[in-house]
Amino acid sequence: MNITCDEPLYPSGATKLDIVLYPDPVLKTKGEEITSFDKELKELSQNMLLTMYHAPGIGLAGPQIGISKRIFVLDVDYDRDCIDEENNHYQLSNVNPLVFINPVLRDLEGETTYQEGCLSIPDIFDDVKRFETLVVDYQDIYGNDQSMSADGLLSICIQHENDHLDGILFIEKLSKLKFEFYRKKMIKEKKRLKRNKEDE
Ligand code: NI
Repeated sequence: MNITCDEPLYPSGATKLDIVLYPDPVLKTKGEEITSFDKELKELSQNMLLTMYHAPGIGLAGPQIGISKRIFVLDVDYDRDCIDEENNHYQLSNVNPLVFINPVLRDLEGETTYQEGCLSIPDIFDDVKRFETLVVDYQDIYGNDQSMSADGLLSICIQHENDHLDGILFIEKLSKLKFEFYRKKMIKEKKRLKRNKEDE
């Protein structure tokens, strides 16, 4: 699949990464604080953004690509149009890529419900209760302290991705019955995917 973009988002050479599927222990591991803001971190965030746009998804956290670190990327604004179906070629527009490092949420207020999904739990969607508004303190890829207030889909997405950094998945926020149902469904699905891969 090719993705082109209105803005030069990626240095040529950004790599699409494999997304880890539930259940995988890395998704249940608390991510470590990031301390070096080096070239490697910049490359990682570019690769994560590329992977997210390809999927496509609106957010992606470190553990979802097997990296147990406190980083997530998101974009809740972009449009993605297929411009060449045969070659799987897409055009992105209105991109607004955001990278959050070592985020801490505060001033969580209000209540909202939204039908969430997750790239690590494909084809499963359900209503999750979240806070309506929040403020997130974080560092950018240069290590500078930043702060952002959020509401709507941005707030929901930040809470979902931040949960990933603590090893929490959205299906764990549902009733026990639903969680068990989705968990078993994913175990079956993963076995099926593994079998398919072996048959190739
Ligand atoms: Ni997710």
